Amino acid sequence: MSASIHAQALLDFIDCSPSAWHAVKSIEAQLADFHFQRLDETQIWALKTSGRYYVVRGDSSIIAFVHGKESAATSGFKLIGAHTDSPSLRIKPNPQSTAANLARLHVDIYGGAILATFSDRELSLAGRVNYLTHSGNLAQCLVNFERPLLRLPNLAIHLNRGVNEEGLKFQKQHELALIFADMSNQLTPSAFTDFTELLQAELPNDAEQILSWDLNVYDTQKGHFWGANNEFFANGQIDNLASCHSVLTALLDEKNLQNTQSTLVCAFFDHEEVGSDSHCGAASHFLSDTLKRISDATAQNSQDFSRALAKSFMISADMAHAYHPNFPSVYDTQHAVHINQGVVIKINVNQRYATDSVSQAMFIDWCDKANVPYQLYSHRNDLPCGSTIGSIVSQLGLRTVDVGNPMWAMHSCRESAGVFDHKAMIDVMNYFFSTNSDAKL
Ligand code: CO
Repeated sequence: MSASIHAQALLDFIDCSPSAWHAVKSIEAQLADFHFQRLDETQIWALKTSGRYYVVRGDSSIIAFVHGKESAATSGFKLIGAHTDSPSLRIKPNPQSTAANLARLHVDIYGGAILATFSDRELSLAGRVNYLTHSGNLAQCLVNFERPLLRLPNLAIHLNRGVNEEGLKFQKQHELALIFADMSNQLTPSAFTDFTELLQAELPNDAEQILSWDLNVYDTQKGHFWGANNEFFANGQIDNLASCHSVLTALLDEKNLQNTQSTLVCAFFDHEEVGSDSHCGAASHFLSDTLKRISDATAQNSQDFSRALAKSFMISADMAHAYHPNFPSVYDTQHAVHINQGVVIKINVNQRYATDSVSQAMFIDWCDKANVPYQLYSHRNDLPCGSTIGSIVSQLGLRTVDVGNPMWAMHSCRESAGVFDHKAMIDVMNYFFSTNSDAKL
């Protein structure tokens, strides 16, 4: 498949996934097309050889796997992990206030969003709502308004003369409230002026009372290609839905689904952007619980799970910082990575990334054999380095490599990346899943 077809599929995937809860639904829908069966953590699992399964925790983390022909103790797990969440604004529990006849919704800041990029955009809301039905039962549904609903207008430059010298700043408590309705008496009596009434109208007919929500603010502009040759693309949430999409595309290759000796596992975690400490994040027991159950399906011995982990390999996939020619001073020039020049292996001796020289060598070997270009990233010594799920998940005893594709404007409301890199990442993940050789050094 061509690079632009893969990239278009990614843009469609992101457009269908305006929140982490929707991302999990989008992943589930693709798995369903390939006859994956949903497992319930509260039930006993009876796993079949070559069976395709997935399990969801917290509605926003999901682990899919293909049960290998060989036991986990014999051939280990082949894992790839990514995260479903992106930095953004979230609607507060008591969100609404009115000032100068304008209803505003107050927001929490989720993760390290570049706040100013949320200004002057057609924003909407998506997420999950918990409610009581007419018959008194608790229920939940996903909500996506889709239409532009909210806005954070900038000040005119005439009222903010220093903006181009001092940067575009929003005071986090007072200046981020999103304008949502005109409360003046020009509106008809039936007009919405209360946020919960507006939300109620999005719920199923049997909804009696809204009890709680998780609502993510997102940009309604769809994904687009750009550049003289359409070699770039832009969208929200490229960090890290682009990695989720590569993982999923590699897994759902028919030859991987049918021929796998090892058990293939794809783990998509929420809460990476806020540290992964939650009941369903990468620091939770979600992955180890799931791997243990898979191992137990074929275990002959109480040591088999430990043997399986020792034999396993994890690719942790998250986006990387591409070189921006307008800002050359923020990169280690020896380790600048470039858009459309291949997948990035992230290395940090202080273990902010889980790559070690062995996992690096193994990944390079797979790139070479899959004919995929790669680049090496190391952060500047005088800037703090970010982290990923890799160093957290590797604590299970999994040999791990941290990789990702180069992108611009990470954590902006509107991010950019390269068409060719997306295909390259899919190709090397596909190779990793499909090779049956024991590549361990
Ligand atoms: Co990320």
